Amino acid sequence: MKVLIVGGGGREHAIAWKAVQSPRVEKLYCAPGNAGIAQVAECVDIGVMDFDAQVAFAKEHGIDLVIVGPDDPLAAGAVDAFEAAGIRAFGPRKNAAILEGSKAFSKDLMKKYNIPTAGYETFDSPEEALAYIEHAPMPIVLKADGLALGKGVLICNTREEAKDGVKTLMLDKQFGSAGDRIVVEEFMTGREVSVLSFVDGKTIKIMTSAQDHKRAKDGDQGLNTGGMGTFSPSPFYTEEVDSFCRNYIYQPTVDAMRAEGREFQGIIFFGLMLTEQGPKVLEYNARFGDPETQVVLPRMKNDIMDVFEACVDGTLDQVELEFEDNAAVCVVLASAGYPEHYEKGYKMTGFENFKDKDGYYVFHAGSKFDAEGNIVTNGGRVLGVTAKGATLKEARENAYKATEWIEFGNKYMRHDIGKAIDEA
Ligand code: AMP
Ligand code: GLY
Repeated sequence: MKVLIVGGGGREHAIAWKAVQSPRVEKLYCAPGNAGIAQVAECVDIGVMDFDAQVAFAKEHGIDLVIVGPDDPLAAGAVDAFEAAGIRAFGPRKNAAILEGSKAFSKDLMKKYNIPTAGYETFDSPEEALAYIEHAPMPIVLKADGLALGKGVLICNTREEAKDGVKTLMLDKQFGSAGDRIVVEEFMTGREVSVLSFVDGKTIKIMTSAQDHKRAKDGDQGLNTGGMGTFSPSPFYTEEVDSFCRNYIYQPTVDAMRAEGREFQGIIFFGLMLTEQGPKVLEYNARFGDPETQVVLPRMKNDIMDVFEACVDGTLDQVELEFEDNAAVCVVLASAGYPEHYEKGYKMTGFENFKDKDGYYVFHAGSKFDAEGNIVTNGGRVLGVTAKGATLKEARENAYKATEWIEFGNKYMRHDIGKAIDEA
């Protein structure tokens, strides 16, 4: 098979790394890719939103399957564009990617089909949102309806903060048109778990669980980021939780999308909160998580191309997903200052330390080659260093050891990924 991956982050590096292990992959391309992906795929200089160029490339190179990684192209109809040209693509069509693309849509879906989630109201006007907040219980959560790089969620402890939040999202438009409409949601407490799944429209197969650390600083302080590190599995995702979610959340979501005429093919990523009343959905994503993918795929035993194809062909019921009985931890190496202001262009060294070391991986997120062919930093999140271990503790120790193998200017990381968990 000739395969094209669309995207250029750590998630896509992990997908590409896994895909080339399939004996069925004859040639792998990635648009646009990055300096790490270039080790396993041929990178082509086409942007993730440039569907015309992607389709033309796929036709010219006889691509058999396209895998679309990021949320923005999925929400804008990348899969529809490939299908219209007769090219098979893995991922939800535009009418199904709305599951992530509009929080108001996903909340209404959950309400209609009785899928457990936080209570909420939706507002198109700041005046009405402000009037509601005047009498709502605090804390409260404000969410921009549209895509905002995972940053359009404000947890407000006081009425004043909530009013400022409405201003930030709806009037100052900090996240652009994503904030034209907002969801105002009941605040929930509990452990968070990320569960990724493959879906073929009817059947859903659940991957192993993971947990992300979204805040920039140790102890879950600082600003929200795309994710500073992950571990898998989550010890809080028990068999009891799993069985509840299968009955009341996973299959009901797939069935609801079908019933709405929005058959979902691709990845559904369930952001769950384990509350005292049971598991509830915090959010849906219509794609692999980043950096969840960097701990989940290294533990997956299946040939991932078989699973991608089964999703596209509607034969996922014949696939059994298998995961190793171990743990993995991913520590993100970022540029100091992320998620606000940071510098790029620092030379990175030490990648050779990962050669021939089983169970240690370095996935590139923001990297590129400079004019002299050096690998340099090119983003806020730069690398994801993943290591496996028999236990979470061992995986964490291994991952932190491996973070020392790489050097670059302004290197920054959290030092407590997975820590509160194995000490709990
Ligand atoms: P989301 O992008 O919707 O997952 O929100 C980002 C983060 O905000 C989540 O990972 C939670 O930590 C937090 N969050 C979102 N919704 C709620 C809620 N209803 N109650 C408490 N925390 C929330
Ligand atoms: N790590 C969270 C996300 O991918 O949205």
